[in-house]
Order: sequence, then structure tokens, then C-alpha cells
Amino acid sequence: MILKGAKVLVIGASGGLGKAVVLELCKQHVGSLFLCGRNEKELLSLQEQGQKCGISTAKAAFDLRDESLLTAFFADLENNGEIDAALILSGISLTKDANGFEDLYEINRGFDVNAKACIKCIYLAANLMQKAQHGQIVVISSLASLLALPSSPVYSASKAALNVYVKAIRPYLQSLNITLSLVLPGFFKSPMEKRFIGRKLFCVSTQKAAKKVINVLRKQKAFCAFPWYFYCVIVLLSFLPNVLQRPLTGICAFSVEPDNERRSYLEKKVRSSHV
Ligand SMILES: NC(=O)c1ccc[n+]([C@@H]2O[C@H](COP(=O)([O-])OP(=O)(O)OC[C@H]3O[C@@H](n4cnc5c(N)ncnc54)[C@H](OP(=O)(O)O)[C@@H]3O)[C@@H](O)[C@H]2O)c1
Repeated sequence: MILKGAKVLVIGASGGLGKAVVLELCKQHVGSLFLCGRNEKELLSLQEQGQKCGISTAKAAFDLRDESLLTAFFADLENNGEIDAALILSGISLTKDANGFEDLYEINRGFDVNAKACIKCIYLAANLMQKAQHGQIVVISSLASLLALPSSPVYSASKAALNVYVKAIRPYLQSLNITLSLVLPGFFKSPMEKRFIGRKLFCVSTQKAAKKVINVLRKQKAFCAFPWYFYCVIVLLSFLPNVLQRPLTGICAFSVEPDNERRSYLEKKVRSSHV
């Protein structure tokens, strides 16, 4: 895809990868940027940077799980004309409780954000692109989707669900001249990565991760997993029987600190138990 002058939607623009990708897109002189996330302040700062580079930049802060806001956003986008690319970078990490499980709250939001919201965004972006008869959608999953990671069961499962949807819908989208790209990153530096406590094997910089995403867009690649050596290790591991896999996945075991949403849920729970 020729990025110069392209109209690009970035979902999850306010995150670590999102910000780095938007800055790269500015360097590539895209034509317009539509930025989504929840953090209004981060989006505003990115909007200002886009505008400084002479790029028409619009932002919308909302929760992707709110279906009426999500559909209204895409309807607005449609009224603004076509988009050439949609980058779906949003995602959340999940935390286990004291019993070593991700509880019902984490199970729900894990699938709601990492699987359902991303799948809905693919559907809505593809509808928009179908009318224009061209476009590219890039979705960020994770190398964790390829292994049943004991450190992060709901995260692995929700990202694996996303992979399966992408693979299943891709041939139909191809017939509509829409490229659907799946990106599986290993660890990269970001606010999410900071919450992973433990061995973060082969962790790369945010800028390197962003360049990989831009490369997928530019070369219209259907698939990218990075770092390639970590991907090879994981593929080899996945062929091993479970009894051999388990001690090896234990080497990269990590725990996950709660994000802001999880923290406020736990605080509310404590407050209500004191009432
Ligand atoms: N970092 C890693 O090591 C790593 C490894 C493999 C895969 N990944 C994947 O890479 C992607 C980017 O991760 P990151 O490390 O950049 O994470 P991050 O800094 O935590 O950013 C996550 C982004 O998702 C958005 N988001 C989350 N829940 C949302 C919701 N309900 N509604 C709207 N937006 C929501 C966040 O918006 P707000 O900030 O505005 O709330 C933010 O823009 C994710 O899909 C992640 O799963 C990350």
C-alpha cells in the first residue's frame, strides 16, 4: 500500500504500540488519521502531533465495548468518505486472583476487548471498505495465542479466538479486494509490558514493533510474527507433547499486575464488602 496520502484509522492509538505507529504514519506523510482509544489526553496530544505534520487528524475517545458508540463512530467515518486502512491495535492484559485464576470479571472483559471488540471492528471496517472495493485491515494478536500459556490463560484464549476469526473470514475479504493482515508480536516495551512481571524473553522496543506493523501495511502482508526466532521456538514447542511443553513454557512464566480498570474494580469490591 502506498502510505503517502492514505486515509488510516488507528484503533488503540492511545496505547504504547498505538502512539509509536501513529508517529511512524506521520513520518510516512499519510493523508488523514482517525484515532480511537479511551484516553482523551493521549489522543489529543497525538492529534496535535498529526496536525503539526500537516495531516488532517480526527480523534474519538470511547470504550470499544459500547456497541452503540462503536457503530456511531463507524457511521461518522462513512460520512467522511472511504478509508484505505484500519489498524486494530487495542487489547488488554488480564490478572489472576489470589486463587491463581482469572475471575469472571477478567474472563468477560478479556473476551469482550481482545476478541469480540476486535472482531466487530474488522466487520465494521470491512463493511466500509466493501463499498470502496479496496482496503487493508491489520489486526494485532499475540504469540501467546499459539501456545496455551499457563501464565495467561484468558489472554491466550481470547487472542486465539481472534486468530481463528481472521483466518476464517480472510478468503471472503480477499474476494472483495480487502487484505486482512494478522500480526503476532512477542514482548515489546509498552505500558502493558510493564505490567508483566517475570522473564520477558526477546523483548523488543516499541519503535521496532511499530516498524513491523508499518511494514505489514506497506507490503500488504497477510501474516507477520516477530521476533522471528521467538516465533520459531513457539512453533517448535507447539509440536511437542503437553508433558514436554509444560516445563518449557514454565521458563517464560510471568505474572500480570492489574491495569487501571482491574484496580478500580477491586477497589469497588473492597468498598462494597465494607458496607
Ligand atoms: N506489549 C506487549 O508485550 C504485547 C505482546 C504481544 C501482543 N501485544 C498486543 O499488542 C497490542 C498493543 O499493546 P500495547 O502493549 O501497546 O498495550 P497498551 O499500551 O496497554 O495499549 C492498549 C490499547 O488498547 C486500547 N484499549 C484497551 N481496551 C480498550 C477498550 N475497552 N476500548 C477502547 N480502547 C481500548 C487502549 O486504550 P486506552 O489506553 O485509551 O485505554 C490502548 O490504546 C494489544 O493488542 C496487545 O494485546 C502486546
